[in-house]
Amino acid sequence: MAATVTNSVSSLVQAIGDIPPEAIVFGNSEAMQALRDRLSKVAGANVPVLIHGESGTGKDIIARLVHALSPWKSGPFVKVNCPAIPGTLLESELFGYERGAFTGAYGSKPGRVEMAHRGTLFLDEISELDMPLQSKLLQLLQDGQFCRIGAQADKKVEVRIVCATNRRLEEEIENGTFRQDLFYRINVVNLYMPPLRERRGDIDPLANYFLEFYNRKYNCKARPISAELMEVLQKYHWPGNIRELENLMKRYVILGSEDVISADLQPREADLLTPEINLDGPISLKKLTRQATRALERKIILKVLHNHHWNRKQAARTLNISYRALLYKIRDAGLPPNRARRTEDAKSQVAAD
Ligand SMILES: Nc1ncnc2c1ncn2[C@@H]1O[C@H](COP(=O)(O)OP(=O)(O)OP(=O)(O)O)[C@@H](O)[C@H]1O
Ligand SMILES: [Mg+2]
Repeated sequence: MAATVTNSVSSLVQAIGDIPPEAIVFGNSEAMQALRDRLSKVAGANVPVLIHGESGTGKDIIARLVHALSPWKSGPFVKVNCPAIPGTLLESELFGYERGAFTGAYGSKPGRVEMAHRGTLFLDEISELDMPLQSKLLQLLQDGQFCRIGAQADKKVEVRIVCATNRRLEEEIENGTFRQDLFYRINVVNLYMPPLRERRGDIDPLANYFLEFYNRKYNCKARPISAELMEVLQKYHWPGNIRELENLMKRYVILGSEDVISADLQPREADLLTPEINLDGPISLKKLTRQATRALERKIILKVLHNHHWNRKQAARTLNISYRALLYKIRDAGLPPNRARRTEDAKSQVAAD
């Protein structure tokens, strides 16, 4: 199954514009392999799909892929960004209207539901639909029928509905802001986009992909990512997910300095002090405690270095350790030897550019 998708995806790369080759689009982490497997099973069947995951995890890309692998791939792909359209306009935008339906409706206009006939209707941020629109959407999902505003009769369309959300719809149902029956209708197949911090194995290939991509695009020659920077990328918590990684690599290609970007990637305090605990296997208390101690030590060293403007001799005195021991610890903690100066140099270089 996966092979079928692999082949189909490779042939689609061009059709979806900037989307990178299949291996990079999916990565090799277990979570992405599971996603690929599910996608291969669902893409060919015209059932509704709900894609959920944090912002920047690739929900748009997957929605386009679902369309590109579907039997109606030669039909239209119509995206509706629900929060971007004011509530009052959303109904006419989605379902269209007839002449005279409201003041200013001088002619009739089809909505995006109709435009997506024999194709895919992608409803992004579905939780933003208000209750009356949720009811109209439910009708569409139940019998393929809808009504233009001001029309006398229902119309019928054949359309595949793909929805995306970065909220937990179960919670919205509990809060009474999302219809449970609609949830069951749109959630026939669920695709979960894991955050980047849950697929750290994919950071390396993605970062290298973006490096190559933007080097080519901007005609730049940024150097390969150093082992030190890759370690920083691996440890970072990536709140903006792939979008943040992509922007970071774009910045690296344009500015050409690792220091500028590694300064942006300070780990959160909570991450430093709480090592990731994998509950799937046996837990080594000794190892985790060692990791937490090292993280705390790194934090203290950083703070003292910062207070002394990266004067390592003074920092060593304050920490009551030898200068040599401090140098060793700085290297061991993956900190740059004299970060402040190098960062400032790089920043003034950028400003001069
Ligand atoms: N697997 C991937 N391979 C390469 N680039 C990706 C991948 N996933 C996402 N991207 C890039 O990351 C950025 C964010 O992706 P996308 O817009 O699909 O995320 P999203 O989950 O829809 O975010 P949001 O919730 O903010 O709408 C895009 O610029 C896209 O090119
Ligand atoms: Mg999106």
